[in-house]
Amino acid sequence: MALLPIILTPEPVLRETAKPVETITDELLKLLDDMADTMYDAPGIGLAANQVGRLERVIVMDCAKEGAAPELWKMINPEIISRSDELAVLEEGCLSIPDQTADVERPAIVEVKYTDIAGKEQRLTCEGLLAACVQHEVDHLDGVLFIDHISRLKRDMIIRRFMKEMRQSSVGAPKGQ
Ligand code: NI
Repeated sequence: MALLPIILTPEPVLRETAKPVETITDELLKLLDDMADTMYDAPGIGLAANQVGRLERVIVMDCAKEGAAPELWKMINPEIISRSDELAVLEEGCLSIPDQTADVERPAIVEVKYTDIAGKEQRLTCEGLLAACVQHEVDHLDGVLFIDHISRLKRDMIIRRFMKEMRQSSVGAPKGQ
């Protein structure tokens, strides 16, 4: 098990577009394992490659209810191929903007196409929390954050509060190089 450092906003890698994976290597599978470990440790329900400073199009998710059996998804080259007209609002947060949340409106049901770790193409219909999560994670691969889906006023407020909390939490910490 290896934990990867989680990249926080406003690091530029969070705004980059990840590149499609062409070959599934052992190194990529290790990255997915490490991303899953990092997500569970955080704890979080989803993590995209950009958030650990990598630009392969891969995400991990586990939206199982607390106490229920884990439901780990590892998706390579995930792509949302259909979206319901019906919308749903869910409160979202992000490991790259810790402790900040906002209500985000997105399509309630989406279908995602992806390659699994065995190299097989899969399709999955997602609803509820999993639908919001998969859209949030695929957004990350395109350099989009959940705060991009809310009003500018709320976005500025979240960023200001986050930066202030970051400054406060570094007070008294040893000075880095
Ligand atoms: Ni996120």
